Amino acid sequence: MSAQIPEWEPLAEPQLVDQRGTYDRMRAACPVARSPRGVTLFRHADVVAAANDPVTYSSATSAYRAVPNSLDPPEHARFRAVVDAFFTPERMRSLEPRIRTIAGELVDALPRDADVDAITDIGNPFAVRAQAEWLGWHGAEGQLLVWMADNHRAIRSGERFRTAAVAAAFDAIVLRQVQHRRQLGRAAPDDPTTELLRLTIDGEPLNDGDIVSILRNWTGGDLGSIAAALGVVLHFLATHEPVQDALRRGADNCAAAVDEMLRIDDPFLVNRRVTTVAARVGEFAIEPATRVYLNWTSANRDETVFGDLDAYRPAENAAHNLVYGTGIHVCPGRPLATMELVVAVQALLAATSRIELAPAAEPVRETYPVGGWRHVPLRLS
Ligand code: HEM
Repeated sequence: MSAQIPEWEPLAEPQLVDQRGTYDRMRAACPVARSPRGVTLFRHADVVAAANDPVTYSSATSAYRAVPNSLDPPEHARFRAVVDAFFTPERMRSLEPRIRTIAGELVDALPRDADVDAITDIGNPFAVRAQAEWLGWHGAEGQLLVWMADNHRAIRSGERFRTAAVAAAFDAIVLRQVQHRRQLGRAAPDDPTTELLRLTIDGEPLNDGDIVSILRNWTGGDLGSIAAALGVVLHFLATHEPVQDALRRGADNCAAAVDEMLRIDDPFLVNRRVTTVAARVGEFAIEPATRVYLNWTSANRDETVFGDLDAYRPAENAAHNLVYGTGIHVCPGRPLATMELVVAVQALLAATSRIELAPAAEPVRETYPVGGWRHVPLRLS
């Protein structure tokens, strides 16, 4: 006998006001819950088990092909090997000085006597400039910033035709970069975008659809993740003075600190899977062809794993941190994301003596499908 999966409505207004709080309550009440959209897994152990079982929990959640995100074994591994090669420690080390320059310039231009928004004034421009630098998309920063704002509005509207239109607009930006390099031929700039064009899998070059898809997954989604992550990190620093002081003194490892801040308030809420066969989560049965949401934000706050879920314990919690996922789809961009976030934090700390919340303005929470903060007004001194 299987227990009935409790119902919930994740997009109802009261649930969205404080998404983390909603997930904390849901996790305490039930490991899984069903809505018209699918079944959500809230607990750390269940999310880890599903993410590590791609045979039962497929990533091919729609007819739309996303490389490598929607691919299952064995095809996934061939594309994943290609993608991983772009994020090696050597590549990150050679990129880091250029990202440091971008962060330094951005921080120097921020006002010291007025409110500064962690997302719109720091996170978004930093994410766009850093990604453009990495991919060699110089001159496309303005277009990308406009696109990010359009994308955000379209996602929040929940209207399919708007999200389809911004997706098409993004593909056009990416395709221009690809075509430009094809026209230049051997004179194309030596950057990761050109490299992708020259790669082969099993002796065959990648087709344009897969190249655009790879680039889309490196930029479209992840510009937003970096900006949102920076919002969470800067809010945490502004509201946890001892942690800020320790990082200023160089007493704490900045990468571990950032990971732990993101565990406590993970802005990357969920990823989807679809069951290929009947599955079980404890006493609950999930039918084949059910859409399943792995709720990273909830799993990262599971008290059975982390104890006091708001306690900042970078070293103790690192091994169970799920901010970048787990299993075959674990984030390949983690080294890049971590380097960029650490460089941005270090630039801000080096150029200020204090980062505080702005006295007269309130931070505003972001809402589904994004977590973290929409606005974090800061004062830098
Ligand atoms: C703070 C920033 C980021 C966070 C929190 C994050 C988080 C994640 C998570 C949780 C997954 C697992 C998805 C799943 O299991 O379905 C993932 C996958 C992925 N991430 Fe990230 N990510 C970040 C930044 C980046 C960056 C900068 C890039 C590339 C430039 C990137 C590229 C990808 C790709 C391509 C996948 C799919 C991998 C696969 O399917 O094998 N991410 N990310």
